[in-house]
Amino acid sequence: MTLLIRGASQVATPTGHRARRGADLGRLKLHSPAVVRCDGGRIAFVGDPAEHDRSFPEPDVVLDAAGGCVLPGFVDPHTHPAWAGSREDEFNRRLRGATYMDIARAGGGINATVRATRGATHDQLLATTLARLDTFLEHGTTTIEAKSGYGLDLETEFRLLEVIRDADRLHPVDLHPTCLAAHEVPPEHRDDPECYVRRLIDEIHPTIAASSLAEAVDVFCEQGVFDLSQTRRLLADAPRYGWRIHLHADELSPLGGAELAVELGALSADHLVHVSQAGILALAASDTVAVLLPGTSFFLRSSYAPARAMVEAGCAVAVATDCNPGSSPTQSMPTILALACLGMGLTIEEAVTAATLNAAAAIGRADEIGSLEVGKRADLVVLGAPTYHHLVYHYGVNQIRHVVKDGRVVVRDGRRTHEI
Ligand code: NIG
Ligand code: FE
Repeated sequence: MTLLIRGASQVATPTGHRARRGADLGRLKLHSPAVVRCDGGRIAFVGDPAEHDRSFPEPDVVLDAAGGCVLPGFVDPHTHPAWAGSREDEFNRRLRGATYMDIARAGGGINATVRATRGATHDQLLATTLARLDTFLEHGTTTIEAKSGYGLDLETEFRLLEVIRDADRLHPVDLHPTCLAAHEVPPEHRDDPECYVRRLIDEIHPTIAASSLAEAVDVFCEQGVFDLSQTRRLLADAPRYGWRIHLHADELSPLGGAELAVELGALSADHLVHVSQAGILALAASDTVAVLLPGTSFFLRSSYAPARAMVEAGCAVAVATDCNPGSSPTQSMPTILALACLGMGLTIEEAVTAATLNAAAAIGRADEIGSLEVGKRADLVVLGAPTYHHLVYHYGVNQIRHVVKDGRVVVRDGRRTHEI
């Protein structure tokens, strides 16, 4: 099947097969006017319409961009998309002064979602996850990293990873599964957290690794959750399991999570609101991508990660939604781009690269997705606006008009479609 996107006023994309840093983070390649040709799910041509028409036969399908801007599909490299229930009540309590940690210590927070999730069946979880994936797609996201972590026992963590596997098979959005059974200490182990750490190492991680349901592992390395030495032990077997590493690092307090992520050769260190200067330098000298989550800072009304200092030091910076029921219940990467610029000080060009090519690098996929170049997967969005600037400038409004995943139109005029 060949698809031609015609009538774009502009195609804007980072280029390359690895994360961009420093001044390169903000360098987008612009084609104007331009067409994009997709063939067999891959990009076959990007550029001048006349040159295309000279070199290629008529396509099977034409999508009229109607003067809109074409960008790579967004890659969201940090999400917790499978859970039951919702926590709007504690959100409202936070607005009245309670802190995230106050609520967690009183049995709310992650453990409130764990209770609801343990009580939900596979099919119930799959239905709510698929509905969330529609929202991701309608906001321009074509690939996500997807963590488990609301089960905190073997049976429910397994169920969540099976839901993520099935959602990946049933939905156009690609899901890259991460085992986050070390997301919190579950209530039954509250009096002896070390016992849960041993269960993770001796039973839960090895069983999940044997199932091949996860391609990566993550730990919430935080004061009052898993400390640095427990995190180190929890991740020690990752290479043997063939698991890449992501790490919730330095989110609420400066523990040295960034330094540990680099030491372990992690794909990404995420959050980093309280990253130390040493952590920034370590990240800058490594291939570990700094995944920043400005939606979480906004929603928790906390400070933002020091994005400018990280870019200037040479870190590979990406951005993500952190989509989850407690600290960032959004699927919208355009909203994250607005917060990355207005809250963390990125330029629009830097934010676009952070949400596409660098986000792809954060899940180890920059060779396949994250930019519009011949040979990469044909995952792209068409905006209802003529330039990429409008994504941030016209904030709070969904500008995604069409979405193409693997060379097929999956969102047309803002709505999910099943047509080919
Ligand atoms: O990434 N930090 C830990 N986990 C999530 C919050 C999950 C929740 O509150 O349910 C996060 O922010
Ligand atoms: Fe998270």
